[in-house]
Amino acid sequence: MNTAMDSSIIIKGIGAYTPDRVLTNSDLAHMVDTSDEWIQSRTGIKERRIAADNESCSDMATKAAEKAIKNAGLTAQDIDMIIVATITPDMPFPSTACLVQKQLGISPIPCFDVEAACSGFLYILDIASSMLKTGNYKNALIIGAEKLSSILDWEDRSTCVLFGDGAGAAVLSISDCANVGIIGTRLAANGNDAKILYMPGGGSTCPASVQSINDRQHYLKMLGKEVFKSAVKVMEQSTIDMLREYNLNADEISCFIPHQANIRIIESFSTRMKIPMERIPVNLDRYGNTSAASIPLALDEALNNNKIKNGDYVLMIAFGAGLTWASTLLKWHC
Ligand code: ACO
Repeated sequence: MNTAMDSSIIIKGIGAYTPDRVLTNSDLAHMVDTSDEWIQSRTGIKERRIAADNESCSDMATKAAEKAIKNAGLTAQDIDMIIVATITPDMPFPSTACLVQKQLGISPIPCFDVEAACSGFLYILDIASSMLKTGNYKNALIIGAEKLSSILDWEDRSTCVLFGDGAGAAVLSISDCANVGIIGTRLAANGNDAKILYMPGGGSTCPASVQSINDRQHYLKMLGKEVFKSAVKVMEQSTIDMLREYNLNADEISCFIPHQANIRIIESFSTRMKIPMERIPVNLDRYGNTSAASIPLALDEALNNNKIKNGDYVLMIAFGAGLTWASTLLKWHC
């Protein structure tokens, strides 16, 4: 007898949302001591989207979710759980997932957030597919959404030029087709590197105070070079491990979707793994690093640009604060 445990879990629908406001490198050069030339040559970023002041993380998440649900051919009432990956929730609690549930008008279902920074979308993809495999749920809505502009220090040129806002969502469902959809996911973290990318203020060790605000503790802090070195290492190792585990070689993967942080990290991955850039979609030039939204935004764009066909293997690879990292192998479904 076929059980949910043996079924395939597929991405039945995907949706993306980015705010209208475009912030170019030239705009940034009027705000901090930087230049379009420096930003493009060091990162590949040309512009990024910035949410409106009254536009929250849950607003962006809901807009991406509505598209994913429609794209899946479902209605909001078909959704059995909502998981949001974000480091910029609307507020510490309740979860952004609950606020999305309210906006979508869905009756009681499990809703919660996961905090794994830029690896967040692949973390929730694994959690949701494990929950679907219990047989207790049919359709899971997973969303990577970030309003990073709300935690950037707009006086720190070493970080504020790198990030942007946006959201990407997917509906995961059980499929009757065998051996398609999510083939495998590997998640990892190393908390020893927690302080190379973090936000010191706002939690229980450093609650908001006049002092913490004066000390600029409520902004993202990063040791860029350290993150860069780790990113190159874990992206390559995650890919090698995943290919070995599933007895595939890199030529058999039609599309690699890396976390969109820096073109130099992606090009280094391409060179070291001997994977042509044509098989690695890039959108960071237009969106910057959108953390948990980065992978679903890039996947949505790759599908819209017909870079992924039925039967193709797709490998998604992420790294982020924690440090966390993750990889997911998909076989695009029938
Ligand atoms: N404009 C002009 N100059 C700048 C800027 C800027 N925006 N930022 C830094 N500089 C200067 C520095 O002050 C330094 O000057 P100095 O030599 O006089 O001291 C010089 O440029 C070189 O700075 P570096 O930090 O050495 O520059 P680097 O080549 O390492 O690039 C960067 C910095 C782009 C941040 C890179 O290290 C990087 O991309 N790191 C990875 C970041 C990342 O991937 N984060 C992803 C995780 S995000 C998440 O999980 C939320």
